[in-house]
Amino acid sequence: MSRSVLMLPGDGIGPEIVAEADKVLKKVNEKFGLGIEFEQGLVGGAAIDAADSPLPDETLEKARQSDAILLGAVGGPKWDGLPMAKRPEKGLLGLRSNLELFANLRPAILYPQLASASSLKPEVVSGLDIMIVRELTGGIYFGQPRGVRQLESGERQGYNTYAYTETEVRRIGRVAFEAARQRGKKLCSVDKANVLEVTVLWREIMNDLQREYPDVELSHMYVDNAAMQLVKAPKQFDVIVTGNMFGDILSDEAAMLTGSIGMLPSASLNSEKQGMYEPCHGSAPDIAGKGIANPLATILSAAMMLRYSLEEEEAAQAIETAVSKVLDQGLRTADIMADGGRKVSTREMGDAVLAAL
Ligand code: NAD
Ligand code: IPM
Ligand code: MN
Repeated sequence: MSRSVLMLPGDGIGPEIVAEADKVLKKVNEKFGLGIEFEQGLVGGAAIDAADSPLPDETLEKARQSDAILLGAVGGPKWDGLPMAKRPEKGLLGLRSNLELFANLRPAILYPQLASASSLKPEVVSGLDIMIVRELTGGIYFGQPRGVRQLESGERQGYNTYAYTETEVRRIGRVAFEAARQRGKKLCSVDKANVLEVTVLWREIMNDLQREYPDVELSHMYVDNAAMQLVKAPKQFDVIVTGNMFGDILSDEAAMLTGSIGMLPSASLNSEKQGMYEPCHGSAPDIAGKGIANPLATILSAAMMLRYSLEEEEAAQAIETAVSKVLDQGLRTADIMADGGRKVSTREMGDAVLAAL
């Protein structure tokens, strides 16, 4: 059976980290005889420069045809002055919305080897294993109306709309309940139901759904408290489900608990399990081109791709085991030097994972 994977390196450190994940994927493709065919495409700033659009039609068409997409990151100071609709980030958001990738899974797992690299004390984080389920195609990121308008008073006002339909909440809720059922059977829904009507409805629907999942314990938490609890006692969480913007913020916070933002992979899935896989971090313009970025979040995203879209669990685990071995060997990119390992470059880290496979 032939499957196709579209590689979208993007901007900044994107090409550097995707190159390492590419090597790893190609090696497991061969080793496990997966029959994956690889395509390349342009997105973000790279696509603006080459084709004057952050998401050229050709890229969207290739994305639609592929079984899965591996994306590096988009954005950077070069394009920050462009109008919103033409920015690199629109390329990423356009892929998410056009492919209806509404379910974003962001697992924050602390590898035991990195316990002392976490910004929290080892006893607070050791054994951490949280799954953040972030709604990805709705909420304030996509709500209409939006824009900047001229008020009668003469000043301008910027505005966005935070809205969710029942259908949107129910489908992300189901993904989260199913995930909790496969794991520790605890689901915490994070909202701002003390202030925002949209999340009052969100909470009501989560409660409704719970009747279909009597084996899963559902709790609710306001987002400000959740941000605090994540650094106070993160191990109280099993699965967290939340909207687009809260999920964006909480997942970066959770990433740091695992030692570095460079460790957090993600999967963005639609209802056909077609998926886009990317690290949770951005294009890191401050370190781009230096060969020091951590490629592990991208390599671990490739493992998630094998698991969720290509249903190759054995190959996915092989990558995860190889990553763990490399951490055992004490190899560390600069972002996780806190625990005094041996410093390696982006490429050396990728090579070490290859060797461990
Ligand atoms: P960022 O995640 O790019 O960087 C934040 C900090 O983390 C920086 O100090 C960076 O050096 C560090 N960092 C990130 N990834 C790293 C890695 N793999 N290894 C080592 N260090 C790493 O966030 P930002 O600076 O707020 O955003 C930069 C650009 O990236 C912006 O244009 C933003 O819109 C874009 N962005 C894109 C994505 C994406 O494509 N999915 C995600 C977030 C931000
Ligand atoms: C992420 C990023 C994106 C988001 C940006 C670049 C549009 O921060 O994937 O976490 O906010 O979703
Ligand atoms: Mn983000």
